[in-house]
Amino acid sequence: EKGNHRHFMAKEIYEQPEVVGHTLTQYLDMAAGKVRLPFGDKIDWKGLSRLTIGACGTSYYAGLIAKYWFEKLARLPVEIDVASEFRYREAPLPEQGLALFVSQSGETADTLAGLRYARQNGQAILSVVNVPTSTIARESHAVAQTLAGPEIGVASTKAFVCQLAVFASLALAAARARGTLSAEDEAGHVQNLISLPGLMARALELEPQIEQLSHKLSRAKDVLYLGRGTSFPLALEGALKLKEISYIHAEGYPAGELKHGPIALIDEDMPVIVVAPHDALFEKTASNMQEVAARGGRIILVTDAKGAAECGIEPEATIVMPDMDPTFAPIVYALPIQMIAYQTAVFMGKDVDQPRNLAKSVTVE
Ligand code: F6R
Repeated sequence: EKGNHRHFMAKEIYEQPEVVGHTLTQYLDMAAGKVRLPFGDKIDWKGLSRLTIGACGTSYYAGLIAKYWFEKLARLPVEIDVASEFRYREAPLPEQGLALFVSQSGETADTLAGLRYARQNGQAILSVVNVPTSTIARESHAVAQTLAGPEIGVASTKAFVCQLAVFASLALAAARARGTLSAEDEAGHVQNLISLPGLMARALELEPQIEQLSHKLSRAKDVLYLGRGTSFPLALEGALKLKEISYIHAEGYPAGELKHGPIALIDEDMPVIVVAPHDALFEKTASNMQEVAARGGRIILVTDAKGAAECGIEPEATIVMPDMDPTFAPIVYALPIQMIAYQTAVFMGKDVDQPRNLAKSVTVE
């Protein structure tokens, strides 16, 4: 049931600190400051030549963020594609390859077909699913469950952040096995993961401010989302969420691609939402933001106190997130992104739990 919330989507957004905390308890030995995977050492991370990730929609964007983590932390080459392309591409798959499929429902037709292709082509199969009895789980060699609980709202929220929490743990486990992470660094990352639910709870407190800015956003015909690094998939996710529940056209772009075309769209009528924690790439994103501002673009900046102080422009609105280590920050930055879409759609009177033309589980291609 919805409890005190107007929609399942709101309830599920608010459950996120709890379900991420719950998921992490299954993947971390908190006292020891180590990752401990529930399926033990079923996966030979050290011997892997490559990781291939397949998924659809929001689960695909979670996989895109995971790519950054596996590559950077575990030095593991990652290939990722949407499952509807992967299944027909006839991609050659390597010896000693692991294929990872991500699905909340575990029943998405294209993702399942991609899994079967990878299996037939000799890959070990790991799935990250929210429903452990699902077809995708049954056909995998190892299953990493997200403990988000049943997700009712059609727009995925809590399953997405739980997928990210699982990926963070998997990437750390892979890094340890592959010798790219010291015990000390592992303990530091584990500590950062443990602090996420508290940071997420603080991010939820930004909702009144987001509600205010959503009124203006609701008048836009198009919205551009920008981000770099792991904030780029969040830009894609923000655009998808806004499209699917408010029906406002939105696009996510890597901030560095702006000058290769989309900057031509910038005018006073198109809000630009920039996702930019003060991380190693902040200055690059800030300079893209300044380019938008110089062309009269209206910027909504999602950043932290330092980013707000150093962005070099005056955004129309700044959503100031709590300070945190940047590595797993997307797990917290997902929340304002979801709330922007939710509040905008609610203000516009849309049925956020049952958006038109969409189904919760896409079992046909
Ligand atoms: C968007 C959304 C969809 C799903 C996609 C994959 O909010 O929910 O894009 O993420 O249909 O579904 P699963 O994860 O069940 O395979």
